[in-house]
Amino acid sequence: VRVDGESPYDVVIGRSVLDELAPLLGGDTTRVAIVHPHSLPAPGHAVESALRGAGVRTCLMAVPDGENAKTVAVAADLWGRLGRAGFTRADVVVGVGGGATTDLAGFVAATYLRGVRVVHVPTTLLGMVDAAVGGKTAINTGEGKNLVGSFHEPAGVICDLGWLDSLPRADVVAGLAEVVKCGFVADPVILDLVAGAPDAATEPRADALRELIERAVAVKARVVASDLRESTSTTADVGREALNYGHTLGHAVERVEEYRIRHGEAVSIGMVFVAELSRLAGRLDDGTAALHREILQQLGLPTSYPPGRWPRLREVMRVDKKSRGDRLRFVVLERLARPAILEAPAEDLLLAAYLAVEG
Ligand SMILES: NC(=O)c1ccc[n+]([C@@H]2O[C@H](COP(=O)([O-])OP(=O)(O)OC[C@H]3O[C@@H](n4cnc5c(N)ncnc54)[C@H](O)[C@@H]3O)[C@@H](O)[C@H]2O)c1
Ligand SMILES: [Zn+2]
Repeated sequence: VRVDGESPYDVVIGRSVLDELAPLLGGDTTRVAIVHPHSLPAPGHAVESALRGAGVRTCLMAVPDGENAKTVAVAADLWGRLGRAGFTRADVVVGVGGGATTDLAGFVAATYLRGVRVVHVPTTLLGMVDAAVGGKTAINTGEGKNLVGSFHEPAGVICDLGWLDSLPRADVVAGLAEVVKCGFVADPVILDLVAGAPDAATEPRADALRELIERAVAVKARVVASDLRESTSTTADVGREALNYGHTLGHAVERVEEYRIRHGEAVSIGMVFVAELSRLAGRLDDGTAALHREILQQLGLPTSYPPGRWPRLREVMRVDKKSRGDRLRFVVLERLARPAILEAPAEDLLLAAYLAVEG
């Protein structure tokens, strides 16, 4: 899948596709720093041998697992290691791992020497369909997630589906929430594929999952290319903000749960909520709203949330990074593949939508 923009790049999707990594680096590459989690050595080493086989000099840079890598301390450690290795602009960072690792690798690549090339090799479904594509990079601060970062597009992305074989099923299912999101906001064929074969959708070896990943990446590529910096959003053109569907409440659920719930699970609850909000606001028909619950439940994703937590969620949404000033903003749906913006909905409407999610 090609991602157009200031510097177009390819997302390669398939099995045993690591051979395609070296050609993505760029002709003048002299060395590659492979950033990967300590706890996940196999993909890092596989990338190392693929690059060595292609005659590229490499150094492995292990970092803490998952979210623990997204700190300024780990970023500073990598800046130091790149400096000691004498890295120049002709060198490339390769991020290998889940979305947390590729976010860190992208951030370090964006900032070192004001920007060196980065190529991502995502090993989770969420990484493949979301984090590694689109050029957003970030680390966390004590005050919240993804508060410091920049836009830095990769020079390429390799999605080797073989990595998904070892991914816990719950993580595959959670990643599918983002795929389903792409179905609702842009590509309803995704919804047909999931509804027609929900089991195959969660099976890494099935062709169905490969097609779902390709379609989700194609949606992200299209949306991102039209709005590289998430800036064009108007009532007429939702732009990149469409990818935020289900995320306003979803982020609040994650915060309230202190991140013990998977992102995709929180987004699943958030999509049911915002579909209900769309319906109650008179924007969406009953059937399409109900379809959200049906499809997400078929995959085993959560579609309800314990009662009594609305006041806390509402408070957390007030300070959401994506809100502008004090006004709450939601991406709603008007029909399949037709997202729109709903600003500052009435409080009783929000509560009514939430009551439909309580259970
Ligand atoms: N930049 C973006 O646009 C963007 C978009 C969405 C999410 N994100 C970020 O992505 C992160 C979440 O991504 P994630 O869910 O991939 O989390 P993650 O990177 O924390 O990975 C989850 C866990 O799975 C393990 N893992 C990775 N690959 C594996 C494999 N093949 N087999 C077995 N275990 C494996 C990891 O080591 C980790 O413990 C968050 O930090 C989020 O902010 C970024
Ligand atoms: Zn998301």
